[in-house]
Amino acid sequence: MSPLLLLLLFKLTIAAAAPAQLRPGFYTETCSEAESTVRKVMIKAIMREPRSVASVMRLQFHDCFVNGCDASLLLDDTPTMLGEKLALSNINSLRSFEVVDEIKEALEKLCPGVVSCADIIIMAARDAVELSGGKRWEVKLGRKDSLTASQEDSNNIMPSPRANASYLIDLFSKFNLSIQDLVALSGSHSIGNGRCFSIVFRLYNQSGTGRPDPAMEPRYREMLNRLCPVDGDGNVTGYLDATPQKFDNQYFKDLVSGRGFLNSDQTLFSSEARTREFVERFSRDEDAFFAAFIEGMVKMGDLQSGRPGEIRRNCRVVNSRTLESHWGLEYLQKFVIRVPLA
Ligand code: HEM
Repeated sequence: MSPLLLLLLFKLTIAAAAPAQLRPGFYTETCSEAESTVRKVMIKAIMREPRSVASVMRLQFHDCFVNGCDASLLLDDTPTMLGEKLALSNINSLRSFEVVDEIKEALEKLCPGVVSCADIIIMAARDAVELSGGKRWEVKLGRKDSLTASQEDSNNIMPSPRANASYLIDLFSKFNLSIQDLVALSGSHSIGNGRCFSIVFRLYNQSGTGRPDPAMEPRYREMLNRLCPVDGDGNVTGYLDATPQKFDNQYFKDLVSGRGFLNSDQTLFSSEARTREFVERFSRDEDAFFAAFIEGMVKMGDLQSGRPGEIRRNCRVVNSRTLESHWGLEYLQKFVIRVPLA
């Protein structure tokens, strides 16, 4: 490759690596039906399987915390890259990737090469909440999809269900998310399920004591013991709150009465005054929860790595590595037009 081309590509790297300016209505001109198309597919998904929208909503958290909201999570493993799908917090747990595929297929038919998979996750998570009874909000769009993924980063970053409140406060603060954001975003567990695998330690051996977590209300614990016996099937699932298909503040009411499913949920009420305050407030005031949740989702959606990206054609694989797909034809025509590309 000629030195001139190298220099130009270096400059382009810098340009492309600046974080994208996210804004509402990003696709108004280029794909005006993008948001309504996502919503239509999400309606089909919830009708087919009510839990699937919770599973899709969870993808935003697992995508955005690992090197920003860039759909790195959606990449399948390749011979040279271990993706994030098999990372500790994701394996046998994240699901409903096929809903994202269905959305992407619909959008590629409508406006090929325009809507990023990273934005699809953000729009679909918003719709999941609304379709489950929560409030709708305006999402900022304009993200690019990553060119790679990192299983190692996911393993290092994503919190375990054993995490306690002070660990979670520290973790979220690294992402510019406040204690209120942490508690409100944990309220996403108002919908969906968790596996026995994620709670057996707290049922039978909390913190190596050989005893259950004392914060659990006894009748709730008995119910979970029946659902998840010692040496039972770790893939059996239970509900994360008492109304698992309705996005509401029941989750917080459950925490106040010792009926949190995950240790990382119950700890927000039982072991830390700084988070308990918000749990109590949200358990009494659903509107306050909804407002704080939306604020948290928007802040989480702002996380960006600043690395170069592309609009993937298929959310599971990066586009083939031609210069055109990497940089965009427009860039190449503008900057590299006179340079022979061979
Ligand atoms: C605060 C730290 C968090 C921890 C430790 C955590 C952990 C977990 C775990 C262990 C499960 C059950 C997985 C399984 O057993 O297979 C789960 C489910 C879920 N999480 Fe979280 N989570 C956290 C925060 C969040 C956030 C911020 C969101 C979204 C905004 C979210 C959305 C969900 C949803 C919707 C489900 C249910 C998914 C389904 O039914 O498929 N979580 N989470």
